[in-house]
Amino acid sequence: MQKTQDFINGNKDKFLNELLDLLKIPSVSADPAYAGDVRKTAEFVADSLNAAGADKVEIFETKGHPIVYGEKMIDSSFPTVLVYGHYDVQPPDPVELWDSPPFEPVIKKTELHPEGAIFARGACDDKGQMFMHVKAFEAMYQSGELTCNVKFMIEGEEEVGSDNLGLFCEEKKDMLACDVVLISDTSIISNDTPSISVGLRGLSYVEVEVTGPNKDLHSGVYGGAVANPINILSKMIASMMDENNHITIPGFYDKVADLSDAEREAMNKAPFSLDAYKKALNVDDVHGEKGYTTLERASIRPTLDVNGIWGGYIGEGAKTVLPSKAYAKISMRLVPNQTSDEITEIFKNHFESIAPDSVKVEVRPHHGGEPVVIPTNTPEYQAAAKAMMDTFGKEPIPQRGGGSIPIVALFEDVLGVKTVMMGFGLDSDDIHSPNEHYGLFNYYKGIETIPHFYKHYADLKK
Ligand code: BES
Ligand code: MN
Ligand code: MN
Repeated sequence: MQKTQDFINGNKDKFLNELLDLLKIPSVSADPAYAGDVRKTAEFVADSLNAAGADKVEIFETKGHPIVYGEKMIDSSFPTVLVYGHYDVQPPDPVELWDSPPFEPVIKKTELHPEGAIFARGACDDKGQMFMHVKAFEAMYQSGELTCNVKFMIEGEEEVGSDNLGLFCEEKKDMLACDVVLISDTSIISNDTPSISVGLRGLSYVEVEVTGPNKDLHSGVYGGAVANPINILSKMIASMMDENNHITIPGFYDKVADLSDAEREAMNKAPFSLDAYKKALNVDDVHGEKGYTTLERASIRPTLDVNGIWGGYIGEGAKTVLPSKAYAKISMRLVPNQTSDEITEIFKNHFESIAPDSVKVEVRPHHGGEPVVIPTNTPEYQAAAKAMMDTFGKEPIPQRGGGSIPIVALFEDVLGVKTVMMGFGLDSDDIHSPNEHYGLFNYYKGIETIPHFYKHYADLKK
């Protein structure tokens, strides 16, 4: 693989500049105002695949944003790797909290990234990580050292729940046939402690609307005598968590798979400093479910969080008003064996049942996704572990993560293959937050490690 590594070393500036160009296109999938830019990004990805040497590159339309496909089938006796990633990004809001504009990438050094990091929305999640695969493929193919067939499926709707990708996978099952799915869209523990993600949480996401009186009222004339939907909503939300930060929705934990003491002990051996964690977030204490460590709370336990809450008067100064309506967006992270539809249903029933007669409530489900746990005793996991061993010089730690990638559960069901989640970001890279960034070390380490995966995977499948 020397030629591949030489190719990478000889093209470092080119690989970086291309990523910077990709990051300049604001592919915000959640906001229809960016639909044109989302498409331009799909075209950029398609052009990159073509330039790297892929065949059958195509932009597939969906009911939402397009999916980019491309492949290189070099030898029918080689195993086939399906690379999945997403070119869409989260909205950059609140834009005023960015130190530099979100779609004008800049490179700056940070404490954790002394070699420099690229600051831009999508730098880590997932344009930077997805693009590593295009560049690694380019390096392997142009060097004549591609050891697996490869297919790319890069979507534009991951950040809004991948609603159209499931159908695409069903319809294009034959085109997508593969031996393994490879994804870089998760994190490592730190730049000197590699890890491989072996779990994702699922998700139920709902929006609630609480209606009191049929119009906004004078809070002096009516206050105290008519339900204030914001007061009521706050109380309803607060009631869903008890003093141990245990969720009170009946049935919520019924299907939660508990880990054995040995499993919990093993996962808590992963390097983790609670002090550094608190310091990085500037909090004096952490907060979460009683009886579980921070690592456990953020990966193997389900959650309920309000993502946004609004209603009433929030303009300048004070307005005495008793609002007619209050709203909240609420997400629940799920763990095996909870299912998204079931938890959404349980939530809806509970929320409606605790509403007093003085208000009306409506629960509107948004997207969801199922939790995943990935075994480590497989050739695909072992290939990833060996690859990281080669490039980090250390055995990676298998770790269950707290985030969600909605399509992953489906890969096993529809394509019948296992997924490898070999991410290279850091949890501190501020994905979804202002000043998202991705380390240059991480970008290049990813490009360097991916060919090792192909090599080991091909060897193990022989
Ligand atoms: N790449 C993340 C998920 C992630 C991040 C997993 C870090 C593990 C570690 C992904 O893009 C994401 O943000 N997913 C959403 C899901 C969604 C909007 C349906 C999430 O987890 O909130
Ligand atoms: Mn992502
Ligand atoms: Mn994301």
